[in-house]
Amino acid sequence: MKFPVVRHRRLRRTAALRSMVRETQLDTLDLIAPIFVTEGHDVKEEIASMPGVYHLSLDRLEDEIREITELGLGAVLLFGVPDSKDAVGSTAYAEDGIVQRATRAIKAQAPDLLVVADTCLCQFTDHGHCGVVHQDPGGGGAVIDNDESLALLAKTAVSQARAGADIIAPSNMMDGFVHALRQGLDEAGYTHIPIMSYAVKYASAFYGPFRDAAHSTPQFGDRRTYQMDPGNLREALREARADAEEGADMLMVKPAMAYLDVLRTLREHFELPLVAYNVSAEYAMIKAGASNGWLDEEAVAMELLLGMKRAGADLIITYFAKDAARWMRRRC
Ligand code: PBG
Repeated sequence: MKFPVVRHRRLRRTAALRSMVRETQLDTLDLIAPIFVTEGHDVKEEIASMPGVYHLSLDRLEDEIREITELGLGAVLLFGVPDSKDAVGSTAYAEDGIVQRATRAIKAQAPDLLVVADTCLCQFTDHGHCGVVHQDPGGGGAVIDNDESLALLAKTAVSQARAGADIIAPSNMMDGFVHALRQGLDEAGYTHIPIMSYAVKYASAFYGPFRDAAHSTPQFGDRRTYQMDPGNLREALREARADAEEGADMLMVKPAMAYLDVLRTLREHFELPLVAYNVSAEYAMIKAGASNGWLDEEAVAMELLLGMKRAGADLIITYFAKDAARWMRRRC
């Protein structure tokens, strides 16, 4: 009888052996929990398409922050849902804007918890686009004015830093945004505040539930003139390279599940920390499958998060952050 020379199964025989040789591990500190903060009092409203995720008013934020720190998560990503919007997104950069007030409240309560501020205009503009809109004099319809938007985005980043944000995360996909925000932050004295760039952000159908949650669906057109075409990988490298050269401190790929090849490719080309954004519809699909009894939520979610890490992510922004922290605690 000839025995197989190589026996892969030897190292799979017991749980102890399997965990000893596991190449990739998830850690609670890898996860960033998004939070939607809203105006009003005593608001804690579940987002219909994102069970377990809420609109929270400032007075209901404290419990959420306590839970997050008790679970050992290291960072939150703040999204503002303002009650007043205008053409230029003024509430995005107002000193008493919802994100600015939430940042101050969180830093006062939990100084060690990192506050990452999403820097974009779409929740704050009445048209729902991520920049300033002009009518093309040549009759081409509405266009997003790149360079005019940059000035407002830089203003937003500075006001977020002034409120105490630890990391600025621009998600607007205007050209040159890292450069503009870096300049703005540096001139205002925030040379020490890092930029987590949404460097590679695709025009994706997987943002659907988020747009309901953030009330940021564009009122006309779509985001395809500034977000990336899902067919493109080489372009992802160009986007990432430009952002790295402009001084980005971390690079993000968004969404995650359908773009693991992009994460892997960036991993091979860049030394900067990489962030995967496990977006709203990726979360909603699993929640829906689980509530139908069609899949095991914990097992499926943890396998996906592990896949993102294996593909090259150092950090993962995920609506599963709190659940995953609980699951990890139980497992060890
Ligand atoms: C804002 C922004 C979006 C998301 C994060 N920041 C929406 C968009 O670009 O339409 C999506 C996040 C998610 O789906 O979870 N620019």
